[in-house]
Amino acid sequence: MDVKEAIRKRRAYRSLEPVEVTEDLENDLAECAQITASCFNNQPWRYIFVYDPEMLKKMHEALSQGNEWAQKASMIIVVISKKDYDCVIRDREYFLFDTGMATANLILRATELGLVAHPIAGYSPRKVREILGIPDDVNVITLVIVGKKSKDLNPVLSEKQVEAEKNRPERISLDKFVFINIYKPK
Ligand SMILES: Cc1cc2nc3c(=O)[nH]c(=O)nc-3n(C[C@H](O)[C@H](O)[C@H](O)COP(=O)(O)O)c2cc1C
Repeated sequence: MDVKEAIRKRRAYRSLEPVEVTEDLENDLAECAQITASCFNNQPWRYIFVYDPEMLKKMHEALSQGNEWAQKASMIIVVISKKDYDCVIRDREYFLFDTGMATANLILRATELGLVAHPIAGYSPRKVREILGIPDDVNVITLVIVGKKSKDLNPVLSEKQVEAEKNRPERISLDKFVFINIYKPK
């Protein structure tokens, strides 16, 4: 078992080249989401695998300005869910947590297969709904941009994005987010 290798190798790369999307790949990724833990085994996640070239082209219209690089996607996985698909325990709503866990598993499996699977929040949910026929009461949580890492930098990237291709953006240190025995933020 080497989960840590996939965790370490996963990166939000933005210079992509095409990858062949097959039914096998689609099923493989979906199966890794399928067996994720969820509250009461509610399985609130839903995915739309978009890889038809015409549909992908339509999806480009939904991308925000800084996400032009995502036009190189071979597949866009649209992650959707709804509050009432999962546990609501007083103020705790679990649909986003469980869908996030399933999507992380999907992303790690894509990484293991040598792919880039980069989640983004920069898109118009209204346009995504319009293009794919998603009702208003369903949350469009993220788009996962899938491709293969290209050695050639995508020329649309900003300076900051180019830097992030080379080095993983900095993280906060463990002592800022891990607390031992009692919650005592500094
Ligand atoms: C919920 C979410 C939304 C994100 N939105 C965008 C986005 O709109 N555009 C983008 O280029 N990257 C986006 N990212 C990628 C992050 O910028 C990236 O994960 C972060 O900078 C750390 O880099 P790393 O994943 O390569 O370690 C998003 C990531 C997550 C998890």
